[in-house]
Amino acid sequence: MTTAQPLDVEPTPLALLLLGREADPKSERGVECPGELPAPSDPDLVERARAAKEKLGDRVFVLGHHYQRDEVIEFADVTGDSFKLARDAAARPEAEYIVFCGVHFMAESADILTGDDQQVVLPDLAAGCSMADMATAEQVAECWDILTEAGVAQDTIPVSYMNSSADIKAFTGRHGGTICTSSNAERALRWAFEQRDPSAGKVLFLPDQHLGRNTAVRDLGMSLEDCVVYNPHKPNGGLTAEQLRDARMILWRGHCSVHGRFSLDSVQEVRERIPGVNVLVHPECKHEVVAAADYVGSTEYIIKTLEAAPAGSKWAIGTELNLVRRLANRFADQGKEIVFLDRTVCFCSTMNRIDLPHLVWALESLAAGKVVNRIQVDQETEHFAKLALERMLALP
Ligand code: 13P
Ligand code: SF4
Repeated sequence: MTTAQPLDVEPTPLALLLLGREADPKSERGVECPGELPAPSDPDLVERARAAKEKLGDRVFVLGHHYQRDEVIEFADVTGDSFKLARDAAARPEAEYIVFCGVHFMAESADILTGDDQQVVLPDLAAGCSMADMATAEQVAECWDILTEAGVAQDTIPVSYMNSSADIKAFTGRHGGTICTSSNAERALRWAFEQRDPSAGKVLFLPDQHLGRNTAVRDLGMSLEDCVVYNPHKPNGGLTAEQLRDARMILWRGHCSVHGRFSLDSVQEVRERIPGVNVLVHPECKHEVVAAADYVGSTEYIIKTLEAAPAGSKWAIGTELNLVRRLANRFADQGKEIVFLDRTVCFCSTMNRIDLPHLVWALESLAAGKVVNRIQVDQETEHFAKLALERMLALP
């Protein structure tokens, strides 16, 4: 029999990062999570969260994104998609602490939109977003240089998805652009094209190519040929100056690792399996999936559509699993059959990092007067990112 020996090799930075035990300030996946977390098996976790929240009273405001676990959503003062939560965070100036149960870029946006005296806390700093990580400030600056050399930068407005780091939002603000979410991407694109000469105007859409393409083609009536994909890992983004000049939409080569996995096969398979099913998907899905679906929209749209659906209707949903499960349970006794679009797609692993032990730890620390895992955007970044976020909030 052998006994386990300690490894004499150091774990890689990526392995540590995935365990939430290492720092990578450049990554949306976050940094080291300090502190002693309560054990997940502690039977008093629910009671502890309730007691800490009660002690904090109005000093704390807990926001929960729809993709969070049920055990976390239970303690949220408001739930929403990223657009609604950005607005909700900005509308609570009296709360000293904003506990953001979502991912890192959402907490950054909340910090940008809240007052300097308010502190935003992300219960697990390793809750990042792989899509937001796909566009770094250096890569985007290089892309802008390439557009400038091709002579198209002056005709181009950046439109960045909320799912991006504060640096990318600041780049967007500096260059006259706006942020968008999946709830207002169409309005944001229309606004952007109105800012430039209609015959030459272009949008650089970051970082989700699918949301950019789906909105341009479905909502603005462009063709797929109007869109080119800029690959930050290729020289000149993999595009010629002529391709850049001819394009109307320059799509960053990024995607959501959850929504990007739904396939056309899953749509066809569910239609065969459940006759009469309505397929409802998020616009972060690939264009072919969106084109084959019956309904397409943001997380809030998905919820509203199911609320309004008649009893007896059948639905296959292409979005994150925590939300789909919650909706399936919520509407089961109204006779609405709700299934997940694809059996192989799973939870958003970074959204799932926020669990009850992390929430209890964050709330108890705050109740004890200790601010942990504060998300704070530096002043210059905040200034320009706020310009871009406020343009979004002011969209007609
Ligand atoms: P919305 O919250 O805008 O629907 O975006 C979905 C998402 O992937 C959030 O990370
Ligand atoms: Fe990022 Fe996709 Fe997870 Fe949203 S669902 S946080 S876009 S990886």
